[in-house]
Amino acid sequence: MPNLPRNEAVLDFLKTRRSVPWNMLKPPAPEGEALEELLEIASRVPDHGMLVPWRFLVIAPKAGERLSALALKRGSALGIEEEKCRKVARMFAHAPLIVAVIFTPKESEKAPKWEQRLTNGAVCLTLLNAAHAAGWGANWLTGWVAQDRAFLEEGLGLAPGEELSGFIHIGTPAERPAERARPDLAGLVSRLDE
Ligand SMILES: Cc1cc2nc3c(=O)[nH]c(=O)nc-3n(C[C@H](O)[C@H](O)[C@H](O)COP(=O)(O)O)c2cc1C
Repeated sequence: MPNLPRNEAVLDFLKTRRSVPWNMLKPPAPEGEALEELLEIASRVPDHGMLVPWRFLVIAPKAGERLSALALKRGSALGIEEEKCRKVARMFAHAPLIVAVIFTPKESEKAPKWEQRLTNGAVCLTLLNAAHAAGWGANWLTGWVAQDRAFLEEGLGLAPGEELSGFIHIGTPAERPAERARPDLAGLVSRLDE
């Protein structure tokens, strides 16, 4: 098979892609077919054994308000620093739309749990990139709530065994974020020739 043609638009997109911080996102957010298109693209990822070890939970603004209150309640119960609790609460209350990517590990001899988790990372990044490519702003967040079983089970309805891979905030960028530092490739690459 000959090489595929070079796709300059996609390459330019990947060279310049940049998350939009959550506090720069405002409504509107994708809904209906526009959202479905993003989730379909996000589900097109490498997945060893085709286990589909993820699901999506779409969190609308009213649910975001409920989760904001729950984060404050859980933070106080866990003795988490007040400013950290308030920050997470603000993230939920402010969000035009959040898609929670939920890790649903499957029993498999072929693909161990760590591989399934990598697939979840691919889902999160692909959703982020699809949102940006469609003209939205998006940001991948977790925070301490992502590790709190009570928050995940009471707030999001996670089943035992399910985990949170990411809260993908999606909306309309209020402004263009400044570029951030990127790693120097020279320190990252080595090579084996034999
Ligand atoms: C798994 C994961 C969790 C993250 N959680 C947070 C978070 O809770 N709070 C935060 O400010 N940034 C968090 N970030 C970083 C943001 O996504 C940040 O905007 C990102 O590093 C910007 O990178 P980009 O412009 O290359 O997309 C997280 C990133 C990843 C991969």
